[in-house]
Amino acid sequence: MVLKYQSLDIGNQSQFKQIKTLVDNDLSEPYSVWVYRFFLNNWPGLTYIVIDTELEEEKNVIGCIICKNELHRNTRRRGYIGMLVVNNEYRGQGIAKNLVKTAINKMKNEQCDEIMLETEVSNTIAIKLYENMGFLKMKRLFRYYLNEGDAYRLILPLTEKSCIRSTFLGDASIDI
Ligand SMILES: CC(C)(COP(=O)(O)OP(=O)(O)OC[C@H]1O[C@@H](n2cnc3c(N)ncnc32)[C@H](O)[C@@H]1OP(=O)(O)O)[C@@H](O)C(=O)NCCC(=O)NCCS
Repeated sequence: MVLKYQSLDIGNQSQFKQIKTLVDNDLSEPYSVWVYRFFLNNWPGLTYIVIDTELEEEKNVIGCIICKNELHRNTRRRGYIGMLVVNNEYRGQGIAKNLVKTAINKMKNEQCDEIMLETEVSNTIAIKLYENMGFLKMKRLFRYYLNEGDAYRLILPLTEKSCIRSTFLGDASIDI
């Protein structure tokens, strides 16, 4: 099996459909096509896919990570992991870890001060994956998901700014 990690090709409809199918099948939260378009169109360079090169093009995307990167309260740059999925048949081989590492590096290069995400409290596999990579549990969000499940908000601080309350940080959008 030869796997290829690459950024999403935004014009490739087949890749878009396959990502949507992967996420729809494996994440409990249902997302409308607009949510996908919001992430992919605004931050095309922050979605990575994994391709099994031995499969046909219409069904060769076996994993993906979808992220964004925005200024938070005009004080710090926050990366965000919106979705992460690996096809059931390919799990346990370090693919998710590679995807998360790739996304973290990209967001570091884009001067993010921190990276945030939410995951279901019951998703012990994802929590272990992220905690082993340095993410910290920050908040428990009561009935965060449509299935009424609670979420943990996890954060990976990358710079000192991440550890300072935004009230005490200057407005990063103003050049002094
Ligand atoms: C969570 C998910 C992405 C992990 O994908 P994966 O490619 O199998 O993960 P990896 O092989 O890279 O394993 C990474 C870490 O996850 C944890 N992990 C993976 N499989 C596990 C299992 N069966 N039991 C416990 N921990 C497990 C381990 O900490 C592992 O690190 P280690 O091998 O150093 O111990 C995958 O299970 C998935 O797609 N689940 C459904 C969607 C989902 O829950 N996404 C996350 C939502 S935020």
